[in-house]
Parts: sequence; structure tokens; C-alpha cells
Amino acid sequence: MRDRIRYVSNGQIVEVADVPPMATLLDYVRLQRGRLGTKEGCNEGDCGACTVALGRLVDGRVVYQPVNACILLLGQIDGADLVTIDDLAPVTSAATGSPGALHPIQTAMVEHHGSQCGFCTPGIVMSLFALYHQDGAIERGSIVDQLAGNLCRCTGYRPIVDAATAALAARPARGPVDAFAARASETAKLLASIADGNDLFVGDSGSFFAAPA
Ligand code: FES
Ligand code: FES
Repeated sequence: MRDRIRYVSNGQIVEVADVPPMATLLDYVRLQRGRLGTKEGCNEGDCGACTVALGRLVDGRVVYQPVNACILLLGQIDGADLVTIDDLAPVTSAATGSPGALHPIQTAMVEHHGSQCGFCTPGIVMSLFALYHQDGAIERGSIVDQLAGNLCRCTGYRPIVDAATAALAARPARGPVDAFAARASETAKLLASIADGNDLFVGDSGSFFAAPA
């Protein structure tokens, strides 16, 4: 039996023991980790502003899926690679003061004017990030389906779909090009190393999160 949640973030294993068992992933990301790029909109699974990506091993490969962080308990990310918008955002170099490179999805959103107020944008980028990591050619219908859970009140969907189309068209035939693809085999090893097959029980008899193996 394990009494702490384990997941992977940016190539590191993270262990969490001291969280309320009913904590949502969104509250954990924003309030405990201070990663405020992920937004809270409806807080009931309707708008997609809180979308993050979870990577899990499928046939030895890391496969990313977008999820609504507001309706997921933190314990449900046990064993996954957690990617939030803050992991994609350009990090400003302490040495030069220059921002790092945008993710290809972010670049396309800028170039195609896919964001106005920007509140929905982190969630939309994360849904498209998961699509960017899917195998094979991706048709327009798949882009539209991928965005079905992401509401935008101001931009309109055409420029967002155009941005996704452009980013996917520019993706090399060998697959995605970003930091996550570059360390995919390392991430796969980390995910395999934390898949211990144990029951998970966090909390006490009064309030707990339990995930029987
Ligand atoms: Fe709206 Fe999570 S905040 S789906
Ligand atoms: Fe304002 Fe989408 S850019 S809600």
C-alpha cells in the first residue's frame, strides 16, 4: 500500500502526501504549485479553461490526453506525466532576460490571431498540444473534435482551427518536435519506474482518496 501520490513533471518524479484527499488537480496546480497559467472558468467540466495534458504509457510509448483539471481529483493523476501550460510557456533566461521559444502550437496561435482576451487560450493550447503528439496525419475533423470541450467567447473558432491546421501541417513526418518529444524515452522510463502496482490510500478513515490496484 502506498500513502503518497506519484507523478512525473518536467522529467522529475513528484511525490505528494500532504494534500486534502478531495483536492482537485486544478486547485493543486494553481494553489499549491503556484502555476497560474491554468485557468478556472466554470469549475464544473464545461468550458475547458482548466485543460491540462496527462501522459500515460501505452504499449511502451507516452500518449497524451487532455483532461479537465477542475473535475479531476489529484489522486487520479497518479502514475501519469502531468503537462500544464506553464510547462510550455517560454522561460525567460536569467542570464540574458530573453524569453525562450514558444511551443509550435503557441506560435501558430499567435500567427493566426487565435487569442483575444486569452482566458480560454491555455486550455485550447493544451488540447492542441495533446493532438500535436498524436500519431499520423490529422484531419480538420479531428481538430474540431479535439476542441469540442474548449469554449471561446471572443476569438471565434476559425482562427483557432487555422492555427492548429498550420502547426500540424508544419510537424515533421517523423513526429512532434518539442521538449516533450525530445525526452519521451526518458519520460517513458520514469513512468515505468513509478508503476509499482500498489494500492494507493491517501488520508485517513475519515477522509481519503483510495485507488485499489
Ligand atoms: Fe471549466 Fe474546468 S474550469 S472545465
Ligand atoms: Fe477570450 Fe477565447 S480568447 S474566451
